[in-house]
Amino acid sequence: KSTMDTPLSAMTDVGSITGGRRMRRNRRSDWSRRLIRENALTINDLIWPIFVMDGDNEAQPIGAMPGVDRLSIDNAVRAAEKAATLGIPVIALFPYTNPDLRDDEGSEALNENNLICRALRAIKKEVPEVGLMTDVALDPYTSHGHDGLLRDGIILNDETVEQLTRQALVQAEAGSDIIGPSDMMDGRIGAIRAVLDNQGYTDTQIMAYTAKYASAFYGPFREAVGANSTLKGDKQTYQMDPSNTDEALMEAQLDINEGADMLMVKPGMPYLDVLRRLKDEFAMPTFAYQVSGEYAMLCAAGQNGWLDQERVMWESLLAFKRAGADGILTYFAPTIAETLKR
Ligand code: PBG
Repeated sequence: KSTMDTPLSAMTDVGSITGGRRMRRNRRSDWSRRLIRENALTINDLIWPIFVMDGDNEAQPIGAMPGVDRLSIDNAVRAAEKAATLGIPVIALFPYTNPDLRDDEGSEALNENNLICRALRAIKKEVPEVGLMTDVALDPYTSHGHDGLLRDGIILNDETVEQLTRQALVQAEAGSDIIGPSDMMDGRIGAIRAVLDNQGYTDTQIMAYTAKYASAFYGPFREAVGANSTLKGDKQTYQMDPSNTDEALMEAQLDINEGADMLMVKPGMPYLDVLRRLKDEFAMPTFAYQVSGEYAMLCAAGQNGWLDQERVMWESLLAFKRAGADGILTYFAPTIAETLKR
């Protein structure tokens, strides 16, 4: 008698192998899968990054970011209205500064009538129910494309921090609700907190770009704010080395001690381990930034028909929730919110 004639059930007793446990039982039907689901993405998890530019009724496409435009302030107000309608809690504003306004010190960052400040005031006036977040760093304003002040090829820490506190104050005065220092200088969270408190902005929140890595995934963003072609060298003396995670814990400890209200990990998907470590260690409100390069990657594969864009978008965002994120900065925010609203 050949083994082929023996019924399979007699050869393989799965019940006794697993001790009667059958994991597929819970996965059998849609209602059961929904019932046991541990993590979910909601509209309340979303922060929508938007690029602003000068002009009237302008919308300029960004090469490597399909569906994302630089918007003149009037159109940024429309976008904020859309965010309000959809229930997106926060939009994050990033400026495309006119090249002739850029200089070595990034002085335009301190101009209380710069693009960001005008956008803040316009949006606050028209759409007060949406939270506004702004980036503190000098790169959209410097002729060399660095986040800090540059002398003899070195990024100066303490002098930059001084400049950043002024930038943060100017933004708070114009109506920013969440200051997002993305520069990675030492001591900037504490310095900004002190200046804000001192000037009466005790309620202005700080979301620290806590673990921001020297990443190649920021390429499309740098194009969007016009800092790509100008950047001299790289940002490795201030942004973190992608090899490290212990260092992220130390950065987080410092940011918390210095007064950060929220922490962020950036980029997102390649750094889910860092996100999980920060959330477990500090139990702070912790955010992930799904950066421009991640967005570009998913869109490009989608457009080529190599991946199902809709599904990888959901899966990538859900992964952040699973890794412990309280929210996500993502260029997919309006698309996701529209689908969730339906
Ligand atoms: C500026 C800043 C960057 C991003 C957010 N703020 C670029 C950089 O540090 O070079 C990247 C965001 C993205 O890629 O979507 N300091």
